[in-house]
Amino acid sequence: MTLAGSAGGAAASDRTLAPLGRRLLPVVARREHGAYVVLSVADRDGPAPDPGQFAMLAAAERWGGGADERPFLPRAFSYARHHDDGTLDFLLEDVGPGTERLAELRPGDGIWLLGPLGRGFRPPRSGRRPILVGGGVGIAPLAILRDRLGARAAVLLGFRDAAHAEGAALIEGASVATDDGSRGHHGLVTELLTAGLAGAQMVTSPGGPSLRGPQGETLHPEIYACGPPPMLEAVRALCAEHGLPAQLALESGMACGYGACFGCVVPTRAGYVRLCVDGPVLEAASLEQVA
Ligand SMILES: Cc1cc2nc3c(=O)[nH]c(=O)nc-3n(C[C@H](O)[C@H](O)[C@H](O)COP(=O)(O)OP(=O)(O)OC[C@H]3O[C@@H](n4cnc5c(N)ncnc54)[C@H](O)[C@@H]3O)c2cc1C
Ligand code: FES
Repeated sequence: MTLAGSAGGAAASDRTLAPLGRRLLPVVARREHGAYVVLSVADRDGPAPDPGQFAMLAAAERWGGGADERPFLPRAFSYARHHDDGTLDFLLEDVGPGTERLAELRPGDGIWLLGPLGRGFRPPRSGRRPILVGGGVGIAPLAILRDRLGARAAVLLGFRDAAHAEGAALIEGASVATDDGSRGHHGLVTELLTAGLAGAQMVTSPGGPSLRGPQGETLHPEIYACGPPPMLEAVRALCAEHGLPAQLALESGMACGYGACFGCVVPTRAGYVRLCVDGPVLEAASLEQVA
């Protein structure tokens, strides 16, 4: 197995580094958005995370140690929002014992946090218009990214059904698609992206490939995506077809979050990388495919 240094050519200095050791922080708010829970944690002295970075979280109480307390290892979560007073928001979907335990925390409860970890999204290349594409709980890192990029970033979000689509409240002005048609476009979020790119013509300019819109205007999209693997693979293939740059926030099982266990490796064209230190955001062009 070869281990590539990074799948995008960036250095360690392009990320906000976590202070050594995990910190015990108070939960200050808990809100429900349909199928999701937003947990707010006060981290007044912690560093501001970059969009796309993540933290390893564990509840301070009842987190392992017996047959009924399976979680034990911390779980990885994207930063969904960073407020001026240092409050951090995390978006949770209850899919198993760890997320279930975190989702039941209430204001005043303690949470162990190690972060910010990993390499997040890079700013758009010069002159490029960001298009953010999210699926399900994968919308989390796009909320903080949109805060940073502002209204020039178009946002397309896809969900299973109306209950999950309530998560779209996190990002103002997003176009929504649902699998069952209960809200917004009936179909996949990648269909919204395809429709946006359809009718546009590829032109080659000195700044690289770009698209010309129906009115002859030049479009220079750069795609930022996070969601389930089939969605990310569809985005990767579409961008490869149109010659568009794309940054994909991937997931893999993470035991440590800081490069020690090698449990999170994913294959790239340059060899295997540890997603927790070389990602979780990778350039789409560095991947053969998203598995
Ligand atoms: C960088 C990163 C950022 C993440 N951000 C978020 C977030 O913002 N919000 C959120 O709700 N979740 C996020 N996740 C996923 C979250 O870490 C897992 O859902 C969680 O670890 C599941 O733990 P559990 O004990 O609840 O369930 P488990 O019993 O561990 O797993 C339940 C189900 O989820 C699958 N699963 C577990 N972990 C992963 C994973 N990492 N990738 C894909 N499938 C998995 C299992 O195969 C199983 O089917 C992120 C993961 C990574 C790696
Ligand atoms: S999670 Fe341990 S090396 Fe990445």
